[in-house]
Amino acid sequence: MTGAQIIGTGSYLPERIVTNAELAQRIDTTDEWIVSRTGIRTRRIAAPGELTSEMAIHAARLALEMAETKPSEVGMIVVGTITPDMPMPSCAVFVQHGIGATNAFAFDIAAACAGSLYGLSIAAQYVRSGVVKRALVIGVEMLSSVTNWSDRNTCVLFADGAGAMVIAPCDDERRGIQTIHLHSDGALADLLTIRAGGTKFPITQELLDQNAHKVAMAGREVYRVAVTYLSSALQEAMDANRLKAADISRLVAHQANLRILQSVLEKHGIPLEKAWINIDRYGNNSSASIPISLDEAVRGGAIKKGDVVAMLALGAGICWGSAIVRW
Ligand code: UT7
Repeated sequence: MTGAQIIGTGSYLPERIVTNAELAQRIDTTDEWIVSRTGIRTRRIAAPGELTSEMAIHAARLALEMAETKPSEVGMIVVGTITPDMPMPSCAVFVQHGIGATNAFAFDIAAACAGSLYGLSIAAQYVRSGVVKRALVIGVEMLSSVTNWSDRNTCVLFADGAGAMVIAPCDDERRGIQTIHLHSDGALADLLTIRAGGTKFPITQELLDQNAHKVAMAGREVYRVAVTYLSSALQEAMDANRLKAADISRLVAHQANLRILQSVLEKHGIPLEKAWINIDRYGNNSSASIPISLDEAVRGGAIKKGDVVAMLALGAGICWGSAIVRW
């Protein structure tokens, strides 16, 4: 069996920049609180009428360009999103049509902030087995559409964006995706939810009035879980690859809270400078976070051939995991 590698990345951020100061005019918060508790200074919010699939298409085109891959060469498209254009069909089929990937099968996965890592894992299996020659993995989220803008506990965090990765076979076993470890803990499902809109709580006017169709999060509890699970996920990844902390060249992690990243890296003695940080500029854009960060790091020259890249993500579910990629 061959390996799998990431041969192209792309990202898209909506134009509109929303500052902490702007939010402080609407809700009871301050720039100081948001920066000190989360690291977020600004976030990007999609324009009215802009679609999730359109953001994904922008990112996908850039990733295909870098990968020198024609849309017709793409065999599968996996989109990690909890904010698709509509409940059915998937966001992925709109992307498939939008980029003209007429030979690809396409589907969404719902793993929230871990979506692009889950998607990468699925795509890597198809590529390794030889079933697919080129796979497109996208993390895209329009969290502004499911944010309760009157809830200061969450509305200062969430944002919009898209990132894409092109996966191809790799014959050099020292390069490419080395390991991906995924985990879920459904016992903690209640910590981070959009309650209404499914079969358990079909939409009613009462639920709409309660904002039950928007994200609700037990922030402090998710924070604690995130630090614990992400730390052990990083250890699991290093152990599986016989890596020491010093061997990791670059950390590309989901950007939920700067303090979470700091705590995880501190536990492992990894300097924060090794982490690609953009939460200050983009906020938490869920599944888009890892591919956007990866794209910025690759295009900015912060990831070079031979580098060992560790990826980490955790989100609703709770779903989390890690990847080790040798560039
Ligand atoms: O991406 C998916 C995974 N998500 C995460 O990993 C997020 C994990 N959680 C977090 O990042 C943090 O828990 C938050 C950023 C959400 C909250 O930070 P915190 O330091 O855990 O704050 P807290 O929830 O413990 O709240 C502390 C205080 C509370 O006031 P009292 O009860 O102590 O008087 C909150 O009401 O801060 C208050 N607060 C705010 N104050 C000003 C909460 N949100 C705000 C706000 N502005 N926006």
